[in-house]
Amino acid sequence: MPERSVHTRAVHAGERHGASGIRPTVTPIYVTATFLGETPEELDAMLGGAPGFSYARYNNPTAAAATAAIADLEGGGWGLAYASGMAAVAAALHAVPLTAGDTVLAAQDLYGASINLLQEILGPLGVRAVFADLTDTDTARALVTTHRPRAILVETISNPLLRLVDGPALADLARAHGAALLVDNTFATPLLQRPLDWGATAVIHSATKYLSGHGDATAGVVLTRDEAMADRLERQVKLTGAMLGPFEAWLVHRGVKTLPLRYERQCDSAVRVADRLAASGLFARVVHPLRPDHPDHARALALYPQGRCGAVVTLDLGGDRARVFRFLAALELVLSATTVGDVYSLCLYPAIASHRGLGPEGRARVGITEGTVRIAVGIEDPDDIAADIEQAARRSAALVPASD
Ligand SMILES: Cc1ncc(COP(=O)(O)O)c(C=O)c1O
Repeated sequence: MPERSVHTRAVHAGERHGASGIRPTVTPIYVTATFLGETPEELDAMLGGAPGFSYARYNNPTAAAATAAIADLEGGGWGLAYASGMAAVAAALHAVPLTAGDTVLAAQDLYGASINLLQEILGPLGVRAVFADLTDTDTARALVTTHRPRAILVETISNPLLRLVDGPALADLARAHGAALLVDNTFATPLLQRPLDWGATAVIHSATKYLSGHGDATAGVVLTRDEAMADRLERQVKLTGAMLGPFEAWLVHRGVKTLPLRYERQCDSAVRVADRLAASGLFARVVHPLRPDHPDHARALALYPQGRCGAVVTLDLGGDRARVFRFLAALELVLSATTVGDVYSLCLYPAIASHRGLGPEGRARVGITEGTVRIAVGIEDPDDIAADIEQAARRSAALVPASD
């Protein structure tokens, strides 16, 4: 064969040679939009739904490896990774499936964007959302009987007030009434709760948070053991294209490796920070489920037997927005940013971020005051974290200038 042109060789040179002899320890970042079949018949089979990779919008090996790792921690299941946690929430809801006339029974204190998704995207399509306090299982039972929802959507540990649902009881309720139970397990992680083991239809994560853990990836995942749901998710991602790309998938998978180390420390530090801040007397309220004054304290002890219940501490500064802005500006170690789950400690003001879309009345309804801030405890020394929060609280209350 004559030597091919430099234009042809530049495109193909070095590719697709010798891969079979290479055995990387870590799943590589497969930067390829498409995959070859060994034969046209194999490609035909894969495009027809047989296992394998054909086109990166359908799935890619880096994302599949990350998803398999998360599924392993969740106790088994099949899943897909998405471009964000919200893409995962949307995918799970659509795959229930929901059609016009259906009702979703949703926790009233869901992540703000999940509430807005139900109202602004699914609402106009004819799907009605009923929001209620689903930490009260009797309320949930009454509403399921009245509204016969197609799906129930809850978070294991809610944001920012850290309310706890009785997940196993909700799973029984959903099963008895033929409703799908979708559980956003972002805050509890599979280390504290495994909703698929209760019988939940699907578990959802914002992998942007604890799973990736370093604040450098935006990702989501949906896992299920329900074959029909899996089929719908697979079909849906082909048509809607929210698949996670390989670079972020690699970061998520790397993060998962240290999840237990990071998260256990963060949970333990959160208790220490909460106790210290409560003892300081500087705050109108210190919220953590393992503190005796939390409304779900008994449930925390019963359903979280490891003595860990999330790595978030929520504070009520007792003041108005100006006070909170002064507090945020006075923080020196804790970063004022809109996420949780990073190695860094972070402070979020729900009124301008996660729960902005709810408006003042919506926030008041779920118990979020103008003075509420959420601290996502990082892996730093817990006493350094608490000391920074205390100094910011003092300075923002008294308008004391910074020492430097
Ligand atoms: C509980 C929960 N679910 C879902 C999301 C959405 O995740 P993402 O920001 O990755 O879209 C968030 C984001 O903060 C969250 O806190």
